[in-house]
Amino acid sequence: MSTFSPFQSGGPEQVMYCHDEPSGLRAIIAVHSTALGPALGGTRFYPYADEDEALADVLNLARGMAYKNALAGLDLGGGKAVILGDPSTDKTEALLRAYGRFVQSLGGRYFTACDVGTYVADMDMVARECSFVTGRSPENGGAGDSSILTAFGVYQAMRACAEDRWGEATLRGRRVGIAGVGKVGRHLIEHLNGDGAEIVVTDTAAAALDWVRRSHPDVRIADSTDDLLADELDVYAPCALGGALNDETVPRLAASIVCGAANNQLAHAGIDKTLAERGVLYAPDYLVNAGGVIQVGDEAAHLHEGGFSFDRARARAAGIFETTREILRRSKADGVPPAATADRLAEERMRAVGRLRGILLPG
Ligand code: NAI
Repeated sequence: MSTFSPFQSGGPEQVMYCHDEPSGLRAIIAVHSTALGPALGGTRFYPYADEDEALADVLNLARGMAYKNALAGLDLGGGKAVILGDPSTDKTEALLRAYGRFVQSLGGRYFTACDVGTYVADMDMVARECSFVTGRSPENGGAGDSSILTAFGVYQAMRACAEDRWGEATLRGRRVGIAGVGKVGRHLIEHLNGDGAEIVVTDTAAAALDWVRRSHPDVRIADSTDDLLADELDVYAPCALGGALNDETVPRLAASIVCGAANNQLAHAGIDKTLAERGVLYAPDYLVNAGGVIQVGDEAAHLHEGGFSFDRARARAAGIFETTREILRRSKADGVPPAATADRLAEERMRAVGRLRGILLPG
């Protein structure tokens, strides 16, 4: 890949390579768009096979953040960062602080947050060198664990899908399968339990399943994600890793709604069409899982005036219900899958608001 090949039309505004030899830091920060405001997106700490894989991931994730933040109505652009390495062995104070200094050097064009492999305590450490950090601990004025409002938002979107499919905005009496009961999946169980849904889960980690057995003995555990897919589900909620909806899984899917937290659920372009052809309502992932960025976006927006407010962020995340409704309505009216409608709305907002701010986008 040539240095400028990612910067084609519709590509990122900026890509920064960061290297700190003493701490071993190797990171890439991608600012996809600042059309709506400073770019916000988490830091993924992951043992990538090579630099090309890391670059492809950060570019893809930064673009996704721009669309997610736009659709959530935030005054924030989209960006993301990846740290190359194994968080269980390579994460040190020096490395995180070196990383913080690079984020600081962007002068507020990019705000960071937690992602796979980084946690609230890591953001507290990054913040010792940097002002543009969210997802810090509440003790340090931060929004804390974003999975709380992510799960709340997923539940709101699921209610809107249920209304579309069955006429009532509730999961009462419906069978919901959750693949991945990590931070988000666990909170989602609580919401669905409260609503009277029947819940089936799966996870690859024994500890996660032990938690389910202890905390929710009434929740059924499927033997594998394959078994969960084939179960007579009403709703399938992918809450583990990306690529859950692919050429192998979609033909086996029994559920008539897919609505879950995982990022990048569609393995490739065109899978949303296959879902639509099979009569499956797919709620676009970045619409559904915006609760977390709404939570940390509140922290970014109020860094200097009053600080983070959970109630304000929760009220905003509740809006995911209405946005999902609107997207499903428009998607039907236009005869296109909901994912295409979501992309179009996000692009329209970036173009229109960007123009007001003097940033002209193609298209
Ligand atoms: P997590 O790492 O806490 O939980 C993921 C769970 O999935 C783990 O328990 C893991 O063992 C399990 N898992 C991994 N592979 C699996 C497989 N093949 N089948 C079944 N289970 C599997 O992550 P978290 O925070 O709960 O996030 C879940 C998804 O939601 C991720 O894709 C993340 O990117 C996305 N997301 C999370 C947000 C947040 O605020 N935490 C915000 C937006 C998106």
